Amino acid sequence: MRVDVITLFPEFVDAAARVGVVGRAQDRGLLDVHGWNPRDYATDAYRRVDERPFGGGPGMVMLIEPLRDALRAARAADPRPVRTIFLSPQGTRLTQDKVRELAKEDRLILLCGRYEAVDERLIEHEVDEEISIGDYVLSGGELAAAVLIDAIGRLQDGALNDAASAQQDSFSDGLLDCPHYTRPVTHELGEVPAVLLSGDHAAIAKWRRKQALGRTWQRRPELLARAMLKPEENLFLLEFQKDTKK
Ligand code: ADE
Repeated sequence: MRVDVITLFPEFVDAAARVGVVGRAQDRGLLDVHGWNPRDYATDAYRRVDERPFGGGPGMVMLIEPLRDALRAARAADPRPVRTIFLSPQGTRLTQDKVRELAKEDRLILLCGRYEAVDERLIEHEVDEEISIGDYVLSGGELAAAVLIDAIGRLQDGALNDAASAQQDSFSDGLLDCPHYTRPVTHELGEVPAVLLSGDHAAIAKWRRKQALGRTWQRRPELLARAMLKPEENLFLLEFQKDTKK
């Protein structure tokens, strides 16, 4: 998968995509992240990329032309069709379902805004989709682009050393993840739940499912309301609720 990022700070996105699982995905040739700086496409002597807003008001608005030329250069760099995404707080909220959908694409272009805004005409004509990473305002789209690249990069086939770990993630089935433990068994901070040491795979699977259901119920009840639970999962949840009342 190839991801082109239009940003005034290509070095930031580049650095974020070079570490950890996503960095490894790039090393393995599963993901290819390229930055394009609209300032390189500015035509005036000052390399301007922004101007004051018509109608007045605070802040600056990003100019159409440098962004459009950077977008065109990025599109021309690879013949495959590409979806262009603008990161902004006005976009649709990113979810794991959306991440899974985008991870299947061959190519994406991520457009990052800075300053107060991007000229609306560019968004209308050059952007396929607007995505927000949450209901808060960042000073630019770069962190949001890095979040998206991380979330889709780790889903590329071969990026995770153990493919099963993506299936166990929080949200992979609409629920939060269960708790995890490792050595030592006994520690001043507490004991590892005995079932995890039992070697009984069915009992372990049941415990984990029950914990995932219980945590989702406690922390994100709105997710649970949307999840399609099997009859035995409803029973696990009832057991969890009884256990926590004790
Ligand atoms: N740019 C600024 N804030 C943002 C957000 N919450 N999500 C995506 N892009 C943004």
